[in-house]
Amino acid sequence: GTGRLVDRFGRVHDYLRISVTDRCNLRCLYCMPAHGVQFMDSRRLMTYDEIVTVVRVAARLGVKRLRITGGEPLVRPDIDSLIEALGAIPGIEDMAMTTNALLLAGRAERLFRAGLRRINISIDSLKPDRFAKITRGGDLARVLRGLEEAERVGMSPIKINVVLMKGLNEEEIDDFLRLSVEKPYVVRFIEYMPIGHEDETWKQAYLPLNRVLERAAELGYEIEPTAVPGNGPAENWRIRGGEGAFGLIHPVSAHFCSACNRLRLTADGYLKPCLYWQEELNVRRCNGDEAALEAMFYRALEIKPERHEMAEALEGKERSHLPTIRRMSQIGG
Ligand code: GTP
Ligand code: 5AD
Ligand code: SF4
Repeated sequence: GTGRLVDRFGRVHDYLRISVTDRCNLRCLYCMPAHGVQFMDSRRLMTYDEIVTVVRVAARLGVKRLRITGGEPLVRPDIDSLIEALGAIPGIEDMAMTTNALLLAGRAERLFRAGLRRINISIDSLKPDRFAKITRGGDLARVLRGLEEAERVGMSPIKINVVLMKGLNEEEIDDFLRLSVEKPYVVRFIEYMPIGHEDETWKQAYLPLNRVLERAAELGYEIEPTAVPGNGPAENWRIRGGEGAFGLIHPVSAHFCSACNRLRLTADGYLKPCLYWQEELNVRRCNGDEAALEAMFYRALEIKPERHEMAEALEGKERSHLPTIRRMSQIGG
């Protein structure tokens, strides 16, 4: 690229997360309310052409890695064609997707051929009943069929996202650790974040991830740090003798903002410098003008905060800034 996306704190940004829709075919407890969710009018969604223009500019400025998110990205029609178009942009080296995998079976092969090589799948419970409870109706067997198909067509590494919640799936830490031993998956434990809801229910269900390392020790596992392909904040470990690995994503108990390398593009076209910050910039104000888009990327870096304030939210401490008003399903994680 011609430029480099460096913010006020010296962080280099080479990773863009693109939310392609705020719609989802599930309603996970930690992500969306049960009722009353108003989805964006589809006319407000960024078209694929608009997304490609933004990414072309981003790539010139040094963005090399993309992640497609939602809502649920596989509900957006013809997502393969977007992936193909994005993969053809000079400078783009890595494309991944975060999905609930309900719509993955029967489609993984086409996605792989379109250029999608890595996939992260949300699976918060390995017990069908509990899975249905957390996702409010999800069919675990169908998700697992999608996962197996992704594995079969060669997507690698396959990561499994587990948001840990006290009193909900806490007791499955052992099962998820065992899964990382038996299968070549990267199981990522994620701290429950207060996005879109900072209420008492969040505080009660929030579980710091040191619990996972404690459990691994109690189970007698020998663990060692390991490297896993990816661009995200996970701290990765391997259980000796195991097929896969596990990762810890702990934004609340120990933020990783000093290593932040990412910007986000929302489905309605806002450049979001930080997951937990209110300010966003509307790329549509650039009317597809590439010089204006470049300037907007630099502006996004100027307003990017040094760190989020989730720990302050947990402790009820005063914060320097308003947190995001979007729900997680409108950001894509
Ligand atoms: P790879 O490492 O490339 O596989 O990506 P990733 O781990 O960033 O992707 P994924 O979408 O699977 O994200 C996993 C979890 O990390 C989600 O719960 C995200 O919300 C969270 N996450 C990703 N980036 C950030 C970030 O910048 N800040 C915070 N607080 N959480 C993040
Ligand atoms: N806290 C932590 N992770 C969350 N995700 C969605 N909502 C939350 C939350 N409140 C995760 C999902 C998915 C990824 C995109 O974000 O599990 O894997
Ligand atoms: Fe849908 Fe993902 Fe939110 Fe669950 S976490 S409701 S799968 S967008």
